[in-house]
Amino acid sequence: MERTRSLWLLAAVLAALGQCHGSSSEQCSGAVAVQRRVDCHPQPGASQESCEARGCTWCTTDVPNAPWCFFPEDSPYGYSLGGNAEKTAKGWRVTLNKRSQLSLFGSDISPVVIDVEFQTKDRLRFKVYDPNRERFEVPLKIDSPGVAAEDTSYDVEFTDDASHFRIKRKSTGTVLWDSPLVDLFFSNQYLQITTAVPSTSVYGFGEHEHVSFKHSMDFVTYGMYSRDQAPTPNANLYGVHPFYMCVEDDSNAHGVLLLNSNAQDVSLSPNPSLTFRTIGGILDFYVFLGPTPENVVQQYTEAIGRPHMPAYWSLGFQLSRWGYGSIDVLKETVNRMHRYDIPYDVQHLDIDYMERRLDFTYDKENFAGLPEYLQELKKAGMHNVIILDPFITKDEEPGTYKPYDLGEEMGVWVNNSDGVTPAVGEAWPPGHSVFPDFTNPRTVEWWTQLCLEFKNVLDYDGIWIDMNEPSNFLRGQFPGCADNDINNPPYIPSISDRSLAQKTLCPDSKTYLGEHYNTHSLFGWSQTEPTFHAAQQATGKRAFVLSRSTFVGSGKHGGHWLGDNFSQWKDMHYSIIGMLEFNLFGMPYIGADICGFNYNTTYELCLRWMQLGSFYPFSRNHNAEGNMEQDPAFFGAEFAKISRATLRIRYSLLPYLYTLFYESHVHGNTVVRSLMHEFTSDQQSRGIDTAFLWGPAFMVAPVLEEASTAIKKRHHTG
Ligand code: GLC
Repeated sequence: MERTRSLWLLAAVLAALGQCHGSSSEQCSGAVAVQRRVDCHPQPGASQESCEARGCTWCTTDVPNAPWCFFPEDSPYGYSLGGNAEKTAKGWRVTLNKRSQLSLFGSDISPVVIDVEFQTKDRLRFKVYDPNRERFEVPLKIDSPGVAAEDTSYDVEFTDDASHFRIKRKSTGTVLWDSPLVDLFFSNQYLQITTAVPSTSVYGFGEHEHVSFKHSMDFVTYGMYSRDQAPTPNANLYGVHPFYMCVEDDSNAHGVLLLNSNAQDVSLSPNPSLTFRTIGGILDFYVFLGPTPENVVQQYTEAIGRPHMPAYWSLGFQLSRWGYGSIDVLKETVNRMHRYDIPYDVQHLDIDYMERRLDFTYDKENFAGLPEYLQELKKAGMHNVIILDPFITKDEEPGTYKPYDLGEEMGVWVNNSDGVTPAVGEAWPPGHSVFPDFTNPRTVEWWTQLCLEFKNVLDYDGIWIDMNEPSNFLRGQFPGCADNDINNPPYIPSISDRSLAQKTLCPDSKTYLGEHYNTHSLFGWSQTEPTFHAAQQATGKRAFVLSRSTFVGSGKHGGHWLGDNFSQWKDMHYSIIGMLEFNLFGMPYIGADICGFNYNTTYELCLRWMQLGSFYPFSRNHNAEGNMEQDPAFFGAEFAKISRATLRIRYSLLPYLYTLFYESHVHGNTVVRSLMHEFTSDQQSRGIDTAFLWGPAFMVAPVLEEASTAIKKRHHTG
């Protein structure tokens, strides 16, 4: 064993000596310093041959994850300026022409146009698009005045030699965005742009489980494509938020959104720089000048929509589990919560309340008397949340299951590529299911009607919409995906399985707004708003909607939890990072499953997690089927006493929390924020993600390690 290892090490050293690496990269002809390399072969399987065939440089390195195939200094790719800028009402526009016939992924488009809009004093938009053909654009309406803002805090320009597109902060001269035109790609299914960033303090991008709040810039790539995926470091998860915030060296901060819903990835490199790659739509960027982190989020949510105002009751502690299995177990659990006097306001009902997991039904055997019981709970001051999934079984006898019959009659499903026959997949309901297309206004009508009618069956106060990535337990619908450029594009971003169809529908399926290829990551987003209005109408009160899949702007109509985490100490830490990120994304109503969803929890982990979770804006203990019980009344008197004590601190601060939500709803403030956010000029705060703040005035520093009773001073990068 030892011997094999030393041989391996020796081989590695010899290999490194024989080739360029790190600072000695000049040994390779035409090599660019390692930290400045931009990947010329982002898809797997690069070889010297395939690299050189595309006109790029091949040079191995021992710097982890650095590209071995990269664009040379005199890259033949990209675009050049095609003349002078033309003034427009909102700013200016300029045409760009391709520099050569070379192509990375085929179907290149030339000319393209960069359109710059001076939207507000602190917000600009620049979009790169095809002037000759309409392409998919995200249907999120971002309002801006019809004329260019005056007195802006930014300048937008090309460098004198016309090789770089730049955005500068006027007050300091800091270059916030700097894109070499040679690194711009705009083909039918591959769009790429690289920018230098002014510092390595970069935060955001989602949804992922990030292992630190402040990103590593050491050649890390994050894929973005909504997916039913339990949090695993760096994997693309349920939602898509191509938004980052960068804190400049002098502590000014700015934010950038790429408004694009196609499968995409972003690479963070030590230069420091970012490379965005997406496989459809247009490059539609919004830049927010801050200058404080809080200003950035305020400006971001002004554009994408302010967070909704949550009901006061929804700031109370919430209990859930998948697998109560019967109303008796549910009642027992509720009773012991009361017996131990745990502050507790909301009870969730997961899919086991349904009959055979069919939406808009309840299990009249195992949950007999559920309607009456929910009313009883309400009379006692509690609130109820029910889960709904986006799968509708098609296997029931005609005339016996209205959600399907009515949906079929109204034509509300996502269709196959023929645009006529519904896509059929498999999910929670037994047999085969179809998928409502929430981008279709008829689907909104259908859904609203069903939600309203169901309120007369189960007296719910809120709706939890799950599995809306959308999840499908197959690779594409029946009978599988055809082999074409939509289903198998020339470049598949760095997402799990490198497959667009795995666990979901085929990209060439048809939704009302266009191909699923473009609208896939908008599924949960398009379901959130109609569910919000349906819940509002059904209850006559402020709506509660909790959505697993989210997109830019989802916070306006819903909250989010961080998905199917694991009962592990590290997941507890990562939940703080996720919570901070969703506050940057304009979704402050956020929390993780307290005590962990997958796996059995332990007494100690669960207790520490109850302490941390008492300070999640959305505070819910939730558990997966088959695991041991983990509600705070389960573990006995001592556990209950400690949970009660921390929850009481939360409850005593609810007026403060509610005020923070009000501020977020009206001014777009964050509710939970990082120490960096508030103490930006303190360099040490840049990397802290083991503690967080409620607003500006209350810090939570939880114990995150097993067998410890004190918080150690940690080493923070920054
Ligand atoms: C999904 C959800 C989880 C839920 C389960 C059953 O895994 O993320 O919260 O308990 O489905 O509905």
